[in-house]
Amino acid sequence: MANPFTFAILGCGNRGQTFADWLREHPHAGRVVAVADPLDDRRQKIATQHQLPPTAQFASWESLLEKPRLADVVICTLMDRLHAPAALRALDKGYHMLLEKPMATTLDDCIAIDAARQRNNRIVSICHSLRYHTVYAEVKRLLQSNAIGRLITFEQLEGIDPLHQSHSFVRGNWANESRSCFALMTKSCHDIDIIAYLAAAPCRRVSSFGSLSYFRKENAPPGATLRCTDGCPAEPACPYSALQIYVAPALNWYYEAAGFASLSSAERMLLLRTGPYGRCVYQTDNDVVDHQVVALEFAGGITGTFTMTAFAPPGRHLRLHGAEAQLRADIDGRTIEITRFSDRATTRITFAPQSGSHGGGDSNFMENLIHALRANDSGAVLTSTAESLATHRIVFAAEQSRRERRVVEL
Ligand SMILES: NC(=O)c1ccc[n+]([C@@H]2O[C@H](COP(=O)([O-])OP(=O)(O)OC[C@H]3O[C@@H](n4cnc5c(N)ncnc54)[C@H](O)[C@@H]3O)[C@@H](O)[C@H]2O)c1
Repeated sequence: MANPFTFAILGCGNRGQTFADWLREHPHAGRVVAVADPLDDRRQKIATQHQLPPTAQFASWESLLEKPRLADVVICTLMDRLHAPAALRALDKGYHMLLEKPMATTLDDCIAIDAARQRNNRIVSICHSLRYHTVYAEVKRLLQSNAIGRLITFEQLEGIDPLHQSHSFVRGNWANESRSCFALMTKSCHDIDIIAYLAAAPCRRVSSFGSLSYFRKENAPPGATLRCTDGCPAEPACPYSALQIYVAPALNWYYEAAGFASLSSAERMLLLRTGPYGRCVYQTDNDVVDHQVVALEFAGGITGTFTMTAFAPPGRHLRLHGAEAQLRADIDGRTIEITRFSDRATTRITFAPQSGSHGGGDSNFMENLIHALRANDSGAVLTSTAESLATHRIVFAAEQSRRERRVVEL
């Protein structure tokens, strides 16, 4: 059996922990040999699980990458704005890489990362997990096998869910563009990526509309206080009450993701009084959109729309309209239906649940990366820097269209 690859994790938050867990469950594939994170509890949790000595634990990505190369592969699960500096340094040090999306927060940095990958001849996979999701993979296979005839037009809807929006895009990491990036990039670069992958043609033109409509000061209930902990009169009935989401014994992932699960209730209350998750959702410094629509035209005249909205239950729905049939996919419901125009017959395909994050997509992504490493073949990853750069270009163009109120040609 091939030797397992060695991995160094930069950023031991939610995503870093996800990949560390996968490696722990797949010791034949790889093992974690070094970690970096300024937060002691996060860094030490992975270090303990992987039995790392203190010399393999670093307080920052910079201090880990200062050392001679410590592993075969870097897992870059830092926050968005740190992706470019860390990825560029890691590639020039000779690491292969798992780079979380977004590849970077500016187009110039995405181009620089793709160039650094080529210059260093490394294997890099960007974590667009949708390409590895079983249902999307089957949609791709069906398109390639001409199951709906020529693709003419499509629609994709991404429902975020209002509570998820409040956690991530109002109170949390991705609420303010100056700390992360615009929402189409941070939430939906996956969607634009999968659409472009399915269309399998260069994107020619985009236009986009969207705004921050709801999580705004003027929509705060009368008398609402700046924090849920300040005796807010609206708190008991508020669906975004931080006391109910983060303090009461919660059965939601927000509580876990915000780092509350390991705290005592007194510590949780203190964090809500001082930290981002205790703020009133109508009165924070969030500035990213809560809904956006993108219209796209691809070579060959394929057209389509993508809508992301906070105001729909979580999940992705896709409709592909081909010359011979229509395909409907409920990605999270794990079903595909194809209705043929010739006889109106409908075929339904259902998929068994797959365990693991992103409907099993993250696990399939890791399998693909290990396969590419074993084959020493940078072209074996579905989500190379070149692929990701091409689809990130569409995301940047769509955002430019939204801001400048015009169609943008690619
Ligand atoms: N592929 C996906 O579907 C998906 C899903 C969620 C998040 N993401 C992306 O993954 C990345 C990480 O997201 P997350 O939810 O894990 O965030 P997180 O905040 O939980 O983790 C980031 C970690 O980086 C650490 N960090 C900060 N500065 C550091 C430094 N100088 N050196 C080392 N570590 C440092 C933080 O302490 C934190 O633990 C983001 O870019 C995000 O957009 C991708």
